[in-house]
Amino acid sequence: MNRKVTVVGAGNVGATLAQRLADRELADVVLIDIVEGMPQGKGLDIQQAAPVEGSDARVLGTNDYKDTAGSDVVVITAGIARKPGMSRDDLLNTNYKIVRDCTENTLKHSPDAILVVVSNPLDAMCQVAKKVSGLPKQRVFGMAGVLDSARMRAFIALELGVSVENVHAFVLGGHGDTMVPLPRFSTVAGVPITELLPADRVEAICKRTANGGAEIVSFLKTGSAYYAPSASSAEMVDAILKDKHKVLPCCCYLEGEFGITGLYVGVPAQLGANGVEKIWEIRLTEPERAALRRSADAVKELVDVLKL
Ligand SMILES: NC(=O)c1ccc[n+]([C@@H]2O[C@H](COP(=O)([O-])OP(=O)(O)OC[C@H]3O[C@@H](n4cnc5c(N)ncnc54)[C@H](O)[C@@H]3O)[C@@H](O)[C@H]2O)c1
Repeated sequence: MNRKVTVVGAGNVGATLAQRLADRELADVVLIDIVEGMPQGKGLDIQQAAPVEGSDARVLGTNDYKDTAGSDVVVITAGIARKPGMSRDDLLNTNYKIVRDCTENTLKHSPDAILVVVSNPLDAMCQVAKKVSGLPKQRVFGMAGVLDSARMRAFIALELGVSVENVHAFVLGGHGDTMVPLPRFSTVAGVPITELLPADRVEAICKRTANGGAEIVSFLKTGSAYYAPSASSAEMVDAILKDKHKVLPCCCYLEGEFGITGLYVGVPAQLGANGVEKIWEIRLTEPERAALRRSADAVKELVDVLKL
């Protein structure tokens, strides 16, 4: 195996992503965390699943960035969750420092890597990774839209009793309450759901999608979702490593597209070996455009706190 993916942060999302990448034999995987022993233990455990899975991927857990050298793709999942008494801005500033350090450390050893950011608050953390790395926008982007769209696809498939393989969905905007599910572009076998479901059911699916992360947190009590987030991150890595030219909703740096400039926001993007090859500037209705604008404003509020 000659391709190499580093996953920074060996927590729930990071370790599950490492497992998915290794199981699919997509690349050799390095799992790195600041907690001593934990990435080594999880890495070894995933490695020992390889004979059963029939995968020759090598998996290494480490605390040393030297082991990450020469990575093709680096996925940043490091961060802390909000603790009691912590304000949203405290969390923002803490994860800012974490993502800054992870970006600097990985790039020292993998200057040619593509960076995929997963840590929250996602859109602001993408901005941090771009600023710190100085990399072109094509090589720094974030995962959120694939997850939000997967949630919407799951809800549509359940509602209509059809195969998930028939369902496509598009959720754009920031990764938060203001995300913008687009029913007009969400289809079953090519037919928009607006023609298949009454308006109140479409509305309910959009609401449940926007609340998708919170719904899971309310069940789990501690921690947040990681099976669908890791699957979504793996899809993006797959598109990059296989140079698929795959159109996926990704958190990309916009310079005028959709009337938004200088911000990371979720938009349809074509992913390949060089990262973001193209942003698909689909034509939106005025209300859709306004919703995207509102979502971008919410992202800007967070980014402004960081004074990047
Ligand atoms: N973008 C999305 O759609 C999406 C979805 C799910 C989770 N997330 C975010 O992904 C992040 C990870 O979630 P999780 O559930 O895996 O959390 P987790 O707490 O299980 O794991 C986070 C890991 O990061 C590690 N870490 C902290 N600081 C570090 C540093 N400086 N260097 C290396 N590692 C460090 C921690 O030790 C921990 O193991 C969170 O910020 C979460 O909000 C984003």
